[in-house]
Amino acid sequence: MTFPFTRMRRMRGHAVSREMARETRLHRQDFIYPSFVREGTNIVEEITSMPGQYRYTVDQLPRMADACLEAGVNKIILFGIPENKDPEGSGAFAGDGIIQKAFELLSERYSELYLIGDVCLCEYTSHGHCGMIKDGQVDNDQTLAVLAKTAVSQVASGAHMVAPSDMMDGRVGAIRRGLDGAGYKEVPILSYAAKYASSFYGPFRDAAESAPQFGDRRGYQMDPSNIREALREIELDVDEGADMIMVKPAMAFLDVIHAAWQEFDLPLAAYNVSGEYSMVKAAALNGWIDEKRIVFEILTAIRRAGANVILTYHALDAARWLKEDEG
Ligand code: PBG
Repeated sequence: MTFPFTRMRRMRGHAVSREMARETRLHRQDFIYPSFVREGTNIVEEITSMPGQYRYTVDQLPRMADACLEAGVNKIILFGIPENKDPEGSGAFAGDGIIQKAFELLSERYSELYLIGDVCLCEYTSHGHCGMIKDGQVDNDQTLAVLAKTAVSQVASGAHMVAPSDMMDGRVGAIRRGLDGAGYKEVPILSYAAKYASSFYGPFRDAAESAPQFGDRRGYQMDPSNIREALREIELDVDEGADMIMVKPAMAFLDVIHAAWQEFDLPLAAYNVSGEYSMVKAAALNGWIDEKRIVFEILTAIRRAGANVILTYHALDAARWLKEDEG
């Protein structure tokens, strides 16, 4: 039936009929909050390229954790920035490493907070690459053992889940074997399965001091032109034992999120990355956009595309706004 019997506007005429017709809703449980921890004491420093985001020293982490729980966000992913870097990235798995100290404190003090460890070496290596260098190249196979060791040490310090973001081939399997061998059979792996070589990571590399000192990451992260390759990447990670999969970044890759949702029945995450956040923040600070409405529109689109959960720097704001709206 067509016009005039059918009128699409009827259901749009009242806030409550719009509410009934709504297909996608946001909830604070959809969000994972990414945060940064650094060495030192008594420092909370704003990240210049990410207004409203901070690096915390371990003693100041309770401020971040309290803010999460107050907003109703119960999951975080943590990135460590070590004092010293070396070619092997040995700070990533040091017993008294920055991320290990952070997980120890948070797991002891905040039982309600679910802790996810980002497993990668780029913040810890002096060359800024995500793996070990051999003959001027990032050496895949040599890196796997280091990643597995890093994952085990994060879990030993209190992480509930590990999320490898390095894009080495075979790393999910290596980490699974490492965790199982250490007795952590029940610890899930969230794989950054389809991670693109993206310019949207710019502000993060400032924040984590992890920009590569030579070359770029196109030899291991994916070409943004490809979607079929993303499905292969995901399939391999699923075969290696991934418990959850991720597409990253989000906004320019909604088609990839949707394809992953259609093809795979694992829980799906999407990472609304630093550059996506900073663009919104910059425009909002200039008064050019309505920040709250834009953030809801973006997060809703990512959910609509198929992501169950979203890693986003907007998490605390969005959770607070959702609470406000509920009244
Ligand atoms: C580490 C890592 C990166 C991000 C998450 N984990 C940076 C990179 O690959 O260069 C990016 C997150 C963001 O931009 O918010 N490999």
